[in-house]
Amino acid sequence: MEKRPTTLEAIKAPIADEMAAYEGFLREALHSESRYFDDILKYIFENRGKGVRPTLVMLWAKLLSGGKAFGKRVLLSASLIELIHTASLVHDDVIDRADVRHGKASINEQFGRRNAILTGDFILSRIFELGMESLEFDILTYVSHSIKWLCEGEVIQDEQTKTLGMTHEKYYDIIDKKTASLLAIGCGVGAVAVKAPAKEVDAAYEFGRNIGMAFQIKDDILDYAATDQTGKPMCADLREHKITLPLLEALEDMSPEEQSTIRALVGKADDEAIAQIREQIIAHKGIERAEAIMAEYIAKAKEALAHHDESPYRTSLEMMCDFLAERKH
Ligand code: FPP
Ligand code: MG
Repeated sequence: MEKRPTTLEAIKAPIADEMAAYEGFLREALHSESRYFDDILKYIFENRGKGVRPTLVMLWAKLLSGGKAFGKRVLLSASLIELIHTASLVHDDVIDRADVRHGKASINEQFGRRNAILTGDFILSRIFELGMESLEFDILTYVSHSIKWLCEGEVIQDEQTKTLGMTHEKYYDIIDKKTASLLAIGCGVGAVAVKAPAKEVDAAYEFGRNIGMAFQIKDDILDYAATDQTGKPMCADLREHKITLPLLEALEDMSPEEQSTIRALVGKADDEAIAQIREQIIAHKGIERAEAIMAEYIAKAKEALAHHDESPYRTSLEMMCDFLAERKH
């Protein structure tokens, strides 16, 4: 049988009408009475990412409501998740001093650091304003947990780059908080929005958590891929002293002496050190091992869909698993 195309377009096809309503809702959320500020928000709206998270919210809402047309609660949920993600990236680019986001100048680069910090704060305040005004407090309460986890993830990661003491346990904790938590909350809130039973909310959350772990592991693997494939500088994580799964897997296969040498090289992180570490990762099959772990998370995510009847929404969620696992950049 011919393989299904795993494009985001195909994944979004069953929610095409709802997508248009969501975009209207989001633009409204990213609006300010002040003209200059509104220009910044419009820039964000027009240069946003692929919309993986709101797509997941809407697909889970559809799956668990038997494809019913949905209203304000789902649109609000999808928008809040996208806004949390957006605010976190605006602040992340300030912290990382990144000048590019989604192939365009970052907010700090285009409008200055000061305005970027305030823009992130503005978006956060819109999250609470919209959530409170809607009176859908269960939704606001549910999504607000993720903001705390995102901050925790960033701080624990920062600590690790200073001590170079990264372990598997710490790595999984970091990627759970900095990435998987928002995908988990996104899928879970899709279920909350259609008032699904607690058991279904938890299953949706677990699905999101598993694809979120896989998503970040894939990101960490892609950091070792060539720039002409990803469009990003190779080994950017290592240059920031970040030890991720491919290296952790390779380290596990080394003697204690070799491990100390490699950790010292991560501390150095000049061109020569990076080339040596990359060589060792390849020799100890770090990439292949990380790929296998990612595949396990994808398989676990798919298990959460198994008890649902066949539907376009279930198919799209399965395709999303493949899309995230197969992406090349
Ligand atoms: C990308 O990281 C960013 C995150 C995973 C989350 C960042 C979270 C914060 C800055 C905490 C503040 C949160 C809010 C809601 C204001 P990356 O630098 O590894 O990836 P990149 O290559 O996409 O920049
Ligand atoms: Mg960053």
